[in-house]
Amino acid sequence: MDVARDLRLGGRLAVMRSGGRVLAWSGDPVLRLMYRPWVDRPHQVHRQLREGPQPFVSRSGVLVVATAELCREVVRDRRFGVRTRAGGTPGGAVDGARDPLLEPVDLSILGLDPPDHTRLRRLVAPAFTPARVAAREHLARSVAERLVDAASRKDRFDLVADVAVPLPVAVIADILGVPDADAETFGHWGRAVGAGLGGVRSLRALHRLDRAVVELRGLMSDLVARRRREGRSGTDDVLDLLVAEEVDDDEAVSLAVLLLLAGFETTSGLIGNAVAAMLASGSWDDLVDDPSTAAAVVEETLRFDPPVQFTARVPHEDVELAGTTVPADSTVLALLGAAGRDPAVHTDPEVFDPTRTTAAEHLAFSGGLHYCLGAPLARLEGRVALEALATRMPTLRRLPGATRRRSLLLSEFTRLPLAHHRGSDGSPLS
Ligand code: HEM
Repeated sequence: MDVARDLRLGGRLAVMRSGGRVLAWSGDPVLRLMYRPWVDRPHQVHRQLREGPQPFVSRSGVLVVATAELCREVVRDRRFGVRTRAGGTPGGAVDGARDPLLEPVDLSILGLDPPDHTRLRRLVAPAFTPARVAAREHLARSVAERLVDAASRKDRFDLVADVAVPLPVAVIADILGVPDADAETFGHWGRAVGAGLGGVRSLRALHRLDRAVVELRGLMSDLVARRRREGRSGTDDVLDLLVAEEVDDDEAVSLAVLLLLAGFETTSGLIGNAVAAMLASGSWDDLVDDPSTAAAVVEETLRFDPPVQFTARVPHEDVELAGTTVPADSTVLALLGAAGRDPAVHTDPEVFDPTRTTAAEHLAFSGGLHYCLGAPLARLEGRVALEALATRMPTLRRLPGATRRRSLLLSEFTRLPLAHHRGSDGSPLS
């Protein structure tokens, strides 16, 4: 343990925490999105931000856009990047370093501007095309059905641990070429990293996250080294793509870790948020009546309660945005969650309605250069999970004891207890 580093970071954390709380209580909506009680009902804060002047300048120094139009503009405009001109973390040190509190994990392409972003994204993109993803449907469906069948034999089950995490873990592990992926260990790593991604809040969380990252990087670096030694497998999995000459070991490991984490942490959130929204709105029965509407439910969930709530951009030059000059190297947050409930795009945005025709106009997968590489995969996994649940457990209902991760960045259940009626032989009753 590096005591000097801990003391330095601990001091900074204490200042950030108390300063943040003071600003939240003084009414700064951006800081309110990080603290209780506001973080538990972000939509009220989102509405306030959407209805106010854009971009909103927080007293923390960041600028925020919350309307669908401006969020789309910011993520698509090529004058915006993800690093400062000196190569540093947005909002952090300006000397080109990655700030361990604001960006505790090397985010690989998510945290890179061109040309490195272009080179690395192009390398792995072939593994995530719609056609390649469609070829995984059989695997995703058989895993989903096996998991849902196992869960349906229990008196009560946790949708997150029993279905929503292990399904995407199994599929992304197959795409990457990770043998024997253990959903429980991966889920543990995902929780540790997910808790810190929106910015670390305590030294304990930072240590947990550091440990998870060391273990994840260790696993990936062994696999990359083995693949380099033994040669390509010929299955065109991601490890085959990553051992290309133009990628060094460090880049390959960071990219593999990002793909793994992005591949399941967010998709598990999508599945939980979808089921909770359907059960709360009464639209579960509609899905049971017609499971082919699962794709529409996925889109509406991405609009209504997207697992990733914001993204950050940094203009590389002064940029005019809605009549305001945004200075180069400032931090702009695009609130993707707020954009999904913009009444300028969606009628009655607070209502969960899978039949609405505008749902797909959400920004849950962001846009521009960093548009989610795994969007087709997330949609496929969400759809097959919902189809399996609706056909095998039509009488699904909520039980008490759910827990949510509410952070500025992620909106997802960490536990979602459910039950369904079973016959005396254990079979589902419809
Ligand atoms: C519902 C599930 C998912 C959601 C809500 C989601 C959301 C996002 C968002 C918002 C971004 C862009 C962030 C930005 O603009 O800075 C992103 C990027 C990314 N996502 Fe996803 N994602 C999901 C599933 C997946 C899956 C299954 C994968 C599979 C590997 C994946 C891989 C990636 C990668 C690699 C990037 C970085 C792209 C780049 O920087 O060029 N995501 N995702």
